[in-house]
Amino acid sequence: MVLSTGNNKTRTAVFISGTGSNLKSLVKFSKTKISPISINFIVSNNPKSKGLNYAKKFKIKKKVLNFKNKKLSENKLLSILKKNNIEMICLAGFMKILSKNFIKKFKGKILNIHPSLLPKYKGLNTHQRVLNNKEKYSGCTVHFVNSRLDSGIIILQKKVKISKKDTESSLAKKILVQEHKLYPKAILKVFNL
Ligand code: GRF
Repeated sequence: MVLSTGNNKTRTAVFISGTGSNLKSLVKFSKTKISPISINFIVSNNPKSKGLNYAKKFKIKKKVLNFKNKKLSENKLLSILKKNNIEMICLAGFMKILSKNFIKKFKGKILNIHPSLLPKYKGLNTHQRVLNNKEKYSGCTVHFVNSRLDSGIIILQKKVKISKKDTESSLAKKILVQEHKLYPKAILKVFNL
């Protein structure tokens, strides 16, 4: 990805829909010296996202857009992101699918984290499907976003062993711990650091 680092960190927006634990880990990472990004904006489609509390906690601007009219919400969002000089977007549990037009505007600059070893188990209910298929391993993937769901170029993956005792929620928890480490590592990789 060609992004200027220089002395200034790349201004990044994080898009969430829920708890925002990946957002929290990204904010912590962004405050370290080695981080090439700063988190300057939080976007959610869900006004009840717990993760929105991090906006206040870390003094980051936020915007909630309902995406009921996708074109309208995206156009509004594009102009807000432009106004705030946002150069990069990290999707972190964002449950809306961005349009081709939106993705084109941030070509090669949108990353996503998915809780499976892509290309396996794209989409929702990942952990339950993995368990139903009696997989021995699952994991998480950070990838570039293209116009097809969970299908962009893979940046990094982390494998997680599944134990016989694992349930949907224990597996989700185990993988989430790895997600928090993987996303920052993937960002460093994107910047060749
Ligand atoms: C994570 O498992 C992420 O991979 C998936 O949604 C979950 C979001 O968790 N896309 P959080 O909101 O970051 O805690």
